[in-house]
Amino acid sequence: MASPTGTQKVVVMDPDTSTQGVESAALARVVLVANQKGGVGKTSIVTALAGLIARPDRRVLVVDADPQGNATSSDLGVDGDRGRGLMMALQYGEPPKVERDVRPGLDLVAGGPLLAQVGALTATATQTGLDLVANLRAALAQVCVAGGYSVVLIDSGPGDAPLLDALLRVTRYLVVPTKDDDASLSGVELLALRYLKARQEGALVQLLGVVLFDANPRATARNGQVLTDLDGLLDGSGSSSFQTIIRSDRAAALDLRSAHLTPAELVAATAEQNKSRLARLRSGGKHRADRAAADGAEPVRLWSRDPSALASDYQALARELLTRIAGAESGARA
Ligand SMILES: Nc1ncnc2c1ncn2[C@@H]1O[C@H](COP(=O)(O)OP(=O)(O)OP(=O)(O)O)[C@@H](O)[C@H]1O
Ligand SMILES: [Mg+2]
Repeated sequence: MASPTGTQKVVVMDPDTSTQGVESAALARVVLVANQKGGVGKTSIVTALAGLIARPDRRVLVVDADPQGNATSSDLGVDGDRGRGLMMALQYGEPPKVERDVRPGLDLVAGGPLLAQVGALTATATQTGLDLVANLRAALAQVCVAGGYSVVLIDSGPGDAPLLDALLRVTRYLVVPTKDDDASLSGVELLALRYLKARQEGALVQLLGVVLFDANPRATARNGQVLTDLDGLLDGSGSSSFQTIIRSDRAAALDLRSAHLTPAELVAATAEQNKSRLARLRSGGKHRADRAAADGAEPVRLWSRDPSALASDYQALARELLTRIAGAESGARA
C-alpha cells in the first residue's frame, strides 16, 4: 500500500524467536501416521515411505512411537533401545538417541516396550507437573535441528490414547491409513475427533489425508465408494483422501517384515532370487544357491515373485505426500 508521502512502505515481519516459535519451525516437516485401530498399515506406510524418500542428500527420520516396536525391529531390522530414548524424551525433554543411517540417509529413533509406561506417567502428570507435550516438542526439535531432516515420519501404535494425544500436539501433519472394513473406518472417525480436539486446543496439526490400505486395485467401484465415504468423514477438515491406494499383497508384506526389507530392497532381492532360480534351472542344480544350501547356509526364502506393483503404489504415495506438504507450505506462506 502507498504511504501518505507516496513512497512504498515495506513491512518486515519479525521471525518468531520465542521458544515455541523456534521449536515449531524445527518441527515443520513432522508427519504423524496414526489410527487407533490396529493393523491398518501405519508401520508399513511409515517404513516404506521413509525408505523411498531417504537419500544421503535428503535425510529422513523415522520415530517409532509404538511399544510394539515393529518399525524398529521387524521392518528396519534394528535392535534399538526398546524405546528408552523416546521415554526419556517424554519424561525429561532430553533428545533421544538417534540410530544413524539404518539405510542411506535414513535415521531412526527406536520404539519398544518401555513406551508402554506412558499411560502411567500421564495418570500422575497433574501431581508431578509433568508436561509430556512440552518435553517431547523440545526433545524432537533438537533432534530435527541436528539432523536437518527433509521429512520426519512418526509411527504410532494402536490404542494408546495418552501418547497419541501428545503426538498430535507435536506433529505438523497427520496421515491416517485405513482398510475398507467398517471397524477401520470407525477408527478414522474416532481419530478425526481426537484431531479436532487437538486443533481446538491450539495444536498446529493439519490433516493431509486418509490412505486406503490393503485394498484390491481392481475393485474400482468399491474403492471409489470408500474414498467418497472417507471424504464425507473428512468434510470440513480441508483435506481429502489420497488418490493412491496401497494394494493388497500378502506375500510381499510377509517378506518385507520377515527379511527386514524396504519395498525397493525387496524388488531388488526378488529380481536377484528370480535370476538365481533361472540360472539354477539352466545349470541343472549346480548353482551357488544349491552349493550354499549343501554347505548348510540357509538362503533367505522370499515368497513374493514380483512386488514391483506394491513398490510403485508406495512411490506414488511418497510423491503425493511430498506434493501435499509442499502445497500446505505454500498455502501457509500465501
Ligand atoms: N500390502 C499389504 N497387503 C496385505 N497385508 C499387508 C500389506 N502390507 C502389510 N501388510 C500386513 O498387514 C498387517 C498390518 O500392517 P501394519 O503392521 O503396517 O499395520 P499397523 O497399523 O502398523 O498395525 P499396528 O496397529 O499393530 O501397529 C501386517 O501383518 C503386515 O505384514
Ligand atoms: Mg504398527
